[in-house]
Amino acid sequence: MPPFAPPKLVGDGLPVDCLDGQARPYLNLDAAASTNALPAVATRVHEFLPWYSSVHRGAGYKSRFATRAYEEARMAALSFAGREAEGRDVAIICRNTTEAINHLAFRLDLNRDDVVITTVVEHHANLLPWARFCQRRFVECDQEGTFDASAVKQVLEKGPRPRLLAVTGASNVSGWLPPLDELIDMAHEHGVPVLVDAAQLAPHRKLPVSADYLAWSGHKMYAPFGAGVLVAPRSVFATGDPFLAGGGAVELVDLDEVTWTDPPEREEAGSPNVIGAIALHEAIDELDRIGFEGITGHDEDIARQMRKGLAAIDRVRVLGPRSDARILPVAAFTLEGMPHALVAARLSAEYGIGVRHGCFCAHPYLIRLLGLRQHEVATYREAVRAGDHRSMPGAVRASAGVNTSAADIDRFLGAVGELAGGVVAPAVYRQDPATGDYWPEGDLPGWSESDRALGASCSRG
Ligand SMILES: Cc1ncc(COP(=O)(O)O)c(C=O)c1O
Repeated sequence: MPPFAPPKLVGDGLPVDCLDGQARPYLNLDAAASTNALPAVATRVHEFLPWYSSVHRGAGYKSRFATRAYEEARMAALSFAGREAEGRDVAIICRNTTEAINHLAFRLDLNRDDVVITTVVEHHANLLPWARFCQRRFVECDQEGTFDASAVKQVLEKGPRPRLLAVTGASNVSGWLPPLDELIDMAHEHGVPVLVDAAQLAPHRKLPVSADYLAWSGHKMYAPFGAGVLVAPRSVFATGDPFLAGGGAVELVDLDEVTWTDPPEREEAGSPNVIGAIALHEAIDELDRIGFEGITGHDEDIARQMRKGLAAIDRVRVLGPRSDARILPVAAFTLEGMPHALVAARLSAEYGIGVRHGCFCAHPYLIRLLGLRQHEVATYREAVRAGDHRSMPGAVRASAGVNTSAADIDRFLGAVGELAGGVVAPAVYRQDPATGDYWPEGDLPGWSESDRALGASCSRG
């Protein structure tokens, strides 16, 4: 196979102003949060825009054209999930993974005594929705932030029998890839269906076909136009009220009666996000053209380079598994002696490198990876409740995408190495207590008083 050539994304290399007055090509190492569009996605959206129209709601040519494109996107999503076009399952087009999981939690007809098993590795999107409807039972992780199939088995075998295992396909913090196939087979042997939160998995690996439910987001797989997907058996939506009530989801309405239509339309009340669906379709096709074999090899090379490089820097601690196996190109790390928020601010303001810092919407996991004790967590909670985020624990996260090159990682490692080596900041950084973020003093472009009011806060996650 020829060596993998990382494709460029729309906006790659745009110059950004840094504190020394120089502009540097922006290096986005925050792909786990959101990605720019693949050029094919942008082209497809541009070509479709003149044909944009309402779907399933118009008799005109453009409406029929747009409806076909929207339904083809739905079929592409199903096929991406390894499903047949007219099979048992449906793809619901929604906003994102968070909405998809909330939607499923609402529709599973759970009662308060039901149990859903989830894990302490999850993003909040796969923790919080379940608490609204049922009891949760958790799979704990070890000090490296991983668990094995036997840990899941123990939790599966406790009574009462769970209704669902809801597990991430990949951690957005450590990049760890749980042994999904094994977990799914084991849950099925116990008669328990499985939801895979595929938000991080979708841009990097083929989705697990044997998962009963899948949720993912377009904006993390190079289609940042606001569409995500929930794949589930049609039978889940066959009876009962849909997640959203409104137009498009009904056959007949009277003032005191409604006849819902069939899924998937039953679950998509309101005008759908046609552009988002079309962008997602093109991203699926383009990732297929690039090929997941090549993407996996590239991911492994970048992950190894990033993690080995970080670990070799004095005072840097990489969180999560020690092994480089089963890992995405995502690395969360701390730099002893420098707050995570300051590291992230300096990488941005002095080097033009975009990373994220904080707890990455996975507070229970971060607490474990950082080895925080209960009384420490209680102290932080008190401070946050009083509006003070200054000492909020956390880490810095660098995450790479299909477009990240080895040279990009070298540039990032060089910058972290300089910070760790004590390079003097060209400005004084002040911390905002309300967000915990650091800002260089002065009125430099992008860092002025008015920019500060917008906040760059990572503290909400
Ligand atoms: C593992 C995981 N699950 C769920 C989500 C939520 O995705 P979204 O914000 O697109 O709803 C994220 C986002 O970072 C994630 O990383």
